[in-house]
Amino acid sequence: MALNEMENLKSDETPRVPVDYVEGILQPTPTCDIWDQIWKFQAKPDDLLISTYPKAGTTWTQEIVDLIQNEGDVEISKRAPTHIRFPFIEWIIPSVGCGLEQAKAMPSPRILKTHLPIDLLPPSFLEEKCKIIYVARNPKDNMVSYFHFQRMNKALPDPGTWEEYFESFLAGKVCWGSWHDHVKGWWNAKDQHNILYLFYEDMKKNPKHEIEKLAEFIGKKLDDKVLDQIVHHTSFDIMKQNPMANYSTLPSEVMNHSVSPFMRKGTVGDWKHHFTVAQNERFNEDYKKKMADTSLTFHFHL
Ligand code: A3P
Repeated sequence: MALNEMENLKSDETPRVPVDYVEGILQPTPTCDIWDQIWKFQAKPDDLLISTYPKAGTTWTQEIVDLIQNEGDVEISKRAPTHIRFPFIEWIIPSVGCGLEQAKAMPSPRILKTHLPIDLLPPSFLEEKCKIIYVARNPKDNMVSYFHFQRMNKALPDPGTWEEYFESFLAGKVCWGSWHDHVKGWWNAKDQHNILYLFYEDMKKNPKHEIEKLAEFIGKKLDDKVLDQIVHHTSFDIMKQNPMANYSTLPSEVMNHSVSPFMRKGTVGDWKHHFTVAQNERFNEDYKKKMADTSLTFHFHL
């Protein structure tokens, strides 16, 4: 049997991680089991937190932020895979690691990751006035990306068919809850706290401009050449080839890239290849209702 066939077999046999609810939000059960510890997590004032709804461009932002901190030094950014460089505070896969333990063991200044909605964020992050970067992505592409990610990632539930997933997503019955509540919750908090709110679509349209914004927020002054280097090294094509940024170092029983690669398409508007006309109409109607109470707007194509 060829090596990749063996890997696929191992992956097929691996059961999915079960899920449960924390405060009404669906989470992988291992996260629920240590929820008290997550809630009591002690942030430090110099922690930098990258917060997103899953599949909004977290990994991309992490890579950019790391390169900003290291003034464009690509070799330093290749010191370890993404999930080791940036502890994911509520994440625990017994065979891979525990974000909480990783964070506790990491010397400051730490860059941490979360997908938690603002209401479930451990209070110490806001009490300590940590800098927080939030990235939001238009919900249609976000949904498509999440669907394919759940197909390939055994640490999340089986998404079912696209039609089934479409309904689960709209109902907020996916891990980390409703997309609408997530983006609105963080949007409402941004002016009272130290939060930089960015959009995936802006990063695609003008990466250099968004990288400059990030550098300014972090407090780093970078010259033009370094900014250009960061744009280059964090482009989709370069990151897709970078084993320290494309999640290929995780065991294939957890993430099976032959089902769908982690670095899948990296575009704006891929939803048009998935949504039927009827689904698009249904989505738009639902979106109008759920987003009627916010000033937040999204671009669905560039
Ligand atoms: P697609 O599935 O649409 O391709 P996250 O890191 O939050 O899990 O988000 C993953 C999504 O961001 C995937 O979207 C992935 O391809 C995309 N992505 C990752 N790196 C990117 C980059 N450098 N440029 C554009 N998109 C990127």
